Amino acid sequence: MRGIVLAGGSGTRLSPLTKITSKQLLPVYDKPMVFYPLNTLLRAGIKDILIIVSPEHPGDFLKLLGSGKEFGAKFTYEIQDKPEGLAQAFIIAKDFIGDDNVAMILGDNIFEDDFSKVIKKFKKGGHIFAKKVSDPERFGVVKFGKKGRAIQIEEKPKKFLSDYAITGLYIYDNRVVEVAKKLKPSLRGELEITDLHNWYLNKGELKVDIVKGLWIDAGTFDSLAKATQWALRQDSGQAMRRGK
Ligand code: DAU
Repeated sequence: MRGIVLAGGSGTRLSPLTKITSKQLLPVYDKPMVFYPLNTLLRAGIKDILIIVSPEHPGDFLKLLGSGKEFGAKFTYEIQDKPEGLAQAFIIAKDFIGDDNVAMILGDNIFEDDFSKVIKKFKKGGHIFAKKVSDPERFGVVKFGKKGRAIQIEEKPKKFLSDYAITGLYIYDNRVVEVAKKLKPSLRGELEITDLHNWYLNKGELKVDIVKGLWIDAGTFDSLAKATQWALRQDSGQAMRRGK
């Protein structure tokens, strides 16, 4: 299993903070935001990781993360010239993925859960993760049928569909590269990750699990503040356990 951290995009929702740096390098308490998703992949045992960044900030990411040696891993870097959609990452990563399966995580997504078991068990199809939220209109959304199986997926639905948001961790088998290559841009000009989910869903090969622990998409001021408070609580909890 290979890993991708998608850390490009323009971060306009966090302007002016993102006028001089990348969203994923902003601090979440005592660490840059990207450390959290990177750690989710590392904790799951993924050691070969591609970091996709925008053309404005490759030097900053390289300076921060380096070769990966410090993390006991190997990091490779690619540039996404324009933010043309999450699914484009699989086209950019084609050579890196080779014949392997792949887990992609968004550079602004923070998870508490440990995904090592899921990742070790994964063989074929697609596996994504949902979380009940109060503001589903901000996200890709999944509707579950009576038997708890996913039956419909839509990106930022205008009309209420379900309150289960699709989180930013996606595990796919190797076919994802070819499927991504065939996608057409949506009305907003992006290759949509939701179209990839739907390809697997229509084949009956998409598994959707519920995230148990905390999940934050730290891409807005409020969620960034929430992420910082969570990281601070984690830190003081650890300090208390250490007896400080
Ligand atoms: O956070 C989960 C949500 O992420 C999902 O529920 C949605 O289905 C998915 O489309 C995505 O929605 P967002 O509105 O949060 O996407 P955003 O444009 O903010 O991009 C997410 C991250 O990916 C962000 O860190 C920037 C990066 N990105 C985005 C685009 C469009 C790229 O690196 N390249 C891109 O082309």
